[in-house]
Amino acid sequence: MERFFFISVFLLFFIINITFAFPLSTDSRWIVDDGNKGRRVKLTCVNWPSHLETAVAEGLSKQPLDSISEKIVSMGFNCVRLTWPLYLATDESFSGIMTVKQSLRKLGLLEALSGFQANNPYILDLPLIKAFQEVVSSLGKHRLMVILDNHISQPGWCCNDNDGNGFFGDKHLNPQLWIRGLKKMATMFANVSNVVGMSLRNELRGPKQNIKDWYKYMREGAEAVHSVNPNILVIVSGLNYETDLSFLRDKPFEVSFRRKLVFEIHWYGFWSSWEGDNLNKICGRETENIMKMSGFLLEKGFPLFVSEFGIDQRGNNVNDNRFLSCFMALAADLDLDWALWTLAGSYYVREKTIGYDETYGVLDWSWSSIRNSTILQMISAIQSPFRGPGLMETHPKKIIFHPSSGLCIVRKSLFQLKLGSCDRSESFRLSSQRVLSLADEKILCLKAYEKGKSVKLRLYFSEYYCSQWKLLSESKMQLSSITKKGESLCLDVDSDSNNIVTTSCKCLQGDASCDPKSQWFKVVTSTRSRFKAKPFLNVSPYYKKFLQEPLSVL
Ligand SMILES: *[C@@H]1O[C@H](CO)[C@@H](O)[C@H](O)[C@H]1NC(C)=O
Ligand SMILES: *[C@@H]1O[C@H](CO)[C@@H](O)[C@H](O)[C@H]1NC(C)=O
Repeated sequence: MERFFFISVFLLFFIINITFAFPLSTDSRWIVDDGNKGRRVKLTCVNWPSHLETAVAEGLSKQPLDSISEKIVSMGFNCVRLTWPLYLATDESFSGIMTVKQSLRKLGLLEALSGFQANNPYILDLPLIKAFQEVVSSLGKHRLMVILDNHISQPGWCCNDNDGNGFFGDKHLNPQLWIRGLKKMATMFANVSNVVGMSLRNELRGPKQNIKDWYKYMREGAEAVHSVNPNILVIVSGLNYETDLSFLRDKPFEVSFRRKLVFEIHWYGFWSSWEGDNLNKICGRETENIMKMSGFLLEKGFPLFVSEFGIDQRGNNVNDNRFLSCFMALAADLDLDWALWTLAGSYYVREKTIGYDETYGVLDWSWSSIRNSTILQMISAIQSPFRGPGLMETHPKKIIFHPSSGLCIVRKSLFQLKLGSCDRSESFRLSSQRVLSLADEKILCLKAYEKGKSVKLRLYFSEYYCSQWKLLSESKMQLSSITKKGESLCLDVDSDSNNIVTTSCKCLQGDASCDPKSQWFKVVTSTRSRFKAKPFLNVSPYYKKFLQEPLSVL
């Protein structure tokens, strides 16, 4: 009986989590649903490319469409950013007439063709645009939200400065044609409730880019989409490969509609070197840069959607791993909406390579299993919201997040702490005397002993019994305390036991090869209660079961 109750509670939280009332709109910096309370909907999407030469969603030669949708759900994502090339909507001969089979054949992709025959035969003879709708419909059946992203004009891998798709006026970016394409797609999906947003254009770039045309055409595009589909979120990107919205600080982006505007950015580790300097310094600098280029928009009352970030899923790319920890800290702190690049384990053809293996893909080459579950587990820490409208389950509290593992500080025993799931996170308060104590049991405070030893919770009789803590280094993520012997120690994690210990503070400056990540802790505001709302890998069987039952049963 008790167990049954437990499972029902889990299911209940899933329903609350995933059955949003559409359409979505914005409430200052949050995206919210249409319920009378306007509950926060956190977009935690994965990108599914459908804009390469074939103009067909990738992977359909490897796995049945519904089984891919199911995998997306089981990995804890709630939405897909589905990319499309403009010509799919504007070139009739291309989208309305050419079938999937013809498109694959034209490109000589015979192996993909036979894979398609085996896995998705009913899609092969559909015109390209119908095949695209089929994908959206499968995602909808699995209760996944969809964001349509106009990724490029001419189907193919994106992007470089001179590919003719970069900015208004380039060979393949005629503004009027673009607006016509946006309108066509917005209309086509106007009554499809799980299509919740449209990214107007991916990664504007190149020599022609300028702010004046940006305001003019982005406004026209935004108004065009809204005029034919007033339900949809209109998602607007900036300049320089979706990194720069800084010009909005001085001159707002004015549109005629309200509560539908979202801004988007991209952030990749390979855009800069994360290895050439002290990592604390790099993370501090890059974070500051993001805030300056786009992060300030949150304070101005707009949602900011990181619609692409990602890392090499083989896990051995030092630059990417460094980036990811820094990214996770900011994403948790600001509780951002995001879309991971990418779902695709492989492409039919990319940059002339047939069956191209995508090492940034969460799925493996055959689209059958997860490429690296360690990395996915880590990212799952930011799949449920920490805070936002309607999520006030407890008073705002501070939890301590460990970005390089995706875990939080939890209780191991009465007086001991370890890393564990953020859903079981202890909440803390930092007093004006810099004493860190438990928010719910204020009589317990954090005490550092010696290098290499566990920190312990102690009874807080007076400050003398507690350590005083402060944030060190340019990343501002190292929590340090000075021991009785005068040693400065930092919170760290014992890699064998996951216990919270103190060790000598690492890499405070200099030394590019020094790695402080295990000592990084981010103090994050959360209103999530404990043991709740956990769209996590190991709960997916329950979720799957729920999907098979009609809603009214529950
Ligand atoms: C959407 O539904 C409404 C009401 O049912 C209908 O009037 C409208 O024509 C539909 N739009 C499209 C594009 O199908
Ligand atoms: C997954 O990533 C982790 C962490 O970066 C790495 O240590 C591991 O070797 C990777 N596993 C696989 C199967 O690639």
